[in-house]
Amino acid sequence: MKTKQFLIAAIALLMATGSNAQNANYQSNTNKMSKSIVIFFSHAGDNYSVGNIEVGNTKIVADYISEIKGADQFEIVTHKYDGMAYMPLIELAKAEANNGELPPYEGMAPDLSQYDTVFIGGPVWWGTYPQVMFTLFKDINLDGKTVVPFTTHEGSGLASCVSDVKKAFPKANVTKGFSIYGHEVRGGKAKVEKWLKTL
Ligand SMILES: Cc1cc2nc3c(=O)[nH]c(=O)nc-3n(C[C@H](O)[C@H](O)[C@H](O)COP(=O)(O)O)c2cc1C
Repeated sequence: MKTKQFLIAAIALLMATGSNAQNANYQSNTNKMSKSIVIFFSHAGDNYSVGNIEVGNTKIVADYISEIKGADQFEIVTHKYDGMAYMPLIELAKAEANNGELPPYEGMAPDLSQYDTVFIGGPVWWGTYPQVMFTLFKDINLDGKTVVPFTTHEGSGLASCVSDVKKAFPKANVTKGFSIYGHEVRGGKAKVEKWLKTL
């Protein structure tokens, strides 16, 4: 009997302290038991069209999605670009993309087993997502899940993000995708809401 009680307590503890609970970049939505999650990268700081921003454009869209859909969040974080001016960042990102570099992200990959729908969002950098997002893509399995890509950009729209997500997750059901100009996001909640209603 004692063994059984111990096992039940141990399982409950394991469930409460799963890898997401210990993950600094993971945020559970307290509103409801969420079946969707937004995985995103966003670069705050010196930005071409919206000046020096404290919150990145893509993060603002990720927050709209979480608010409207009750989705949890996982932010892909790297400190590699902290404090960089726009032009040097452009050059560094170009070299990373050309060389297919996979910069490491902070912390560990999220446990996605409880989610049916995974939103994936980031800025367009040189025609696709920033390379650090592809680093995470190698560490997660989205087989059988609905994957909804989105971007913020300054002219390229979705660029090759949707096809690159399809390549990374050939066994996922990857939807059409959504893009919004970075300089539009601060007044763009209604646009995001309208898109979410179409899903
Ligand atoms: C390194 C770098 C490369 C970029 N390349 C593109 C691009 O190829 N096409 C485009 O439309 N915008 C490009 N942009 C603009 C960003 O996609 C846009 O400002 C985005 O909203 C930034 O989102 P964030 O604040 O979430 O990082 C680039 C910006 C940076 C910093």
